[in-house]
Amino acid sequence: MSHLIAPSILTANFLDLRKEIEMINSSEADWLHLDIMDGVFVPNMTFGFPIIRLIKEVSSKPLDTHLMIVEPDRHLERFLAAGADMLTVHYEACTHLDRTIDTIKSLGMRVGVAINPHTSVQLLENVLPDLDLVLNMTVNPGYGAQSFIENSYNKIRQLRELIVRTGSHALIQVDGGVGLGNLSKLKDAGVDVFVVGNTVFASEDPLETIRQLKQL
Ligand code: DX5
Ligand code: ZN
Repeated sequence: MSHLIAPSILTANFLDLRKEIEMINSSEADWLHLDIMDGVFVPNMTFGFPIIRLIKEVSSKPLDTHLMIVEPDRHLERFLAAGADMLTVHYEACTHLDRTIDTIKSLGMRVGVAINPHTSVQLLENVLPDLDLVLNMTVNPGYGAQSFIENSYNKIRQLRELIVRTGSHALIQVDGGVGLGNLSKLKDAGVDVFVVGNTVFASEDPLETIRQLKQL
């Protein structure tokens, strides 16, 4: 499978969101990555259901929804109703992770689990066969345009081994500090899906940048 690109609109121009989404629609991007932050699980806040609903009306790409919130179980049905196609919850935010995964699947969404940089990939062993996606954070979540954490390559290699060993079909996604300079090395380590925020939205020609990221 060739790798997938999921632009994150965290650093997009929210006053011109329709234009930004239409740009992504016309690009070679595969998914649209939405960062939902609650100011509790992470130090920052972003947006919620009304904005997701509006994005869904405009986006032609699947909505890859990354929940950086505590107690995600309280809101799973509302994310579905707002238009999420994939829902990724944080390992660190879920006391009953197995139940959360089951609920997301029973609602008909694809399910992912994210782990922070300090969280060991081994902790996912028992749930891996149930997952569509594992999101390995390559920055501490909360903000765009942070520096990539170099130790991430080891985690990706460990995760790839674990996926093979458990017979899981989960894709490996990375999020944070990804760009033209490190994508190939991450791909060699085993990554399938790349979230890219600042690299795309701070670029002079976002369409061309997405094209280049897709070609690597
Ligand atoms: C960080 C978010 C990321 C972020 C990535 O907490 O989960 O999706 O937008 O942004 P860049 O690519 O700018 O590091
Ligand atoms: Zn994200």
